[in-house]
Amino acid sequence: MSDCSINGIEACVFDAYGTLFDVHSAVGSLRDEVGPQYAELSQLWRTKQLEYTWLRSLMRSHCDFWQLTSDALQYAMDAKNISDAKLHEKLMQSYLQLDAFPEVLGVLSVLKKAGLPTAILTNGSPMMIDAAVNSASLNNVISHKLSIESVGIYKPDPRVYQLAADTLGLAPEKICFQSSNAWDAAGAAHFGFQVAWVNRYAQPAERLPGTPGAVISDLDGLLGVIGVC
Ligand code: LAC
Repeated sequence: MSDCSINGIEACVFDAYGTLFDVHSAVGSLRDEVGPQYAELSQLWRTKQLEYTWLRSLMRSHCDFWQLTSDALQYAMDAKNISDAKLHEKLMQSYLQLDAFPEVLGVLSVLKKAGLPTAILTNGSPMMIDAAVNSASLNNVISHKLSIESVGIYKPDPRVYQLAADTLGLAPEKICFQSSNAWDAAGAAHFGFQVAWVNRYAQPAERLPGTPGAVISDLDGLLGVIGVC
């Protein structure tokens, strides 16, 4: 049964990496070439990638997410003593073809049928998000692809969330935002969105300003909390 803990929304906005797309599928698809350190490499790559977004925003030294993701991968490969430029290139290409989580297409299709706009709001550059959406065949179920490149600073800067409100022409509280990244969910809730935190990995709650209105374990749970069947 739904508890409809999120009410009165007129659009759904989704984080991309970790929420719609499995970032670990990039290394996963090349695990034989990477070798036994593949899971650690993937985790470190993601951790460094996120750290670099926050650090570059604080340093006011922006570069786009493609360059930043490449830098983070190079750091992770250096840390794991993997020196292989071809493998670096293959892993970057693999990042353009990430697996969507299994429930994503079905949930987005239901939202589309219900007449709710469905936007992506991501740190990813326009090139990266176009590639990921194409590769996962999500073009027909995504109404807007919004990149932080339009504002030139990374999440959780409030200007990023404002970009979605401005583009959709909606007050923040009319928007339901979904992210599996708890810090992004906190940032979006602090901004004023209604938020469903997709807690895919059963993590503890962040101790940050901004509390999600709902916690779901995957996107299938979204339909119940917003009352869409
Ligand atoms: C994104 C990162 C936060 O897609 O995963 O914006």
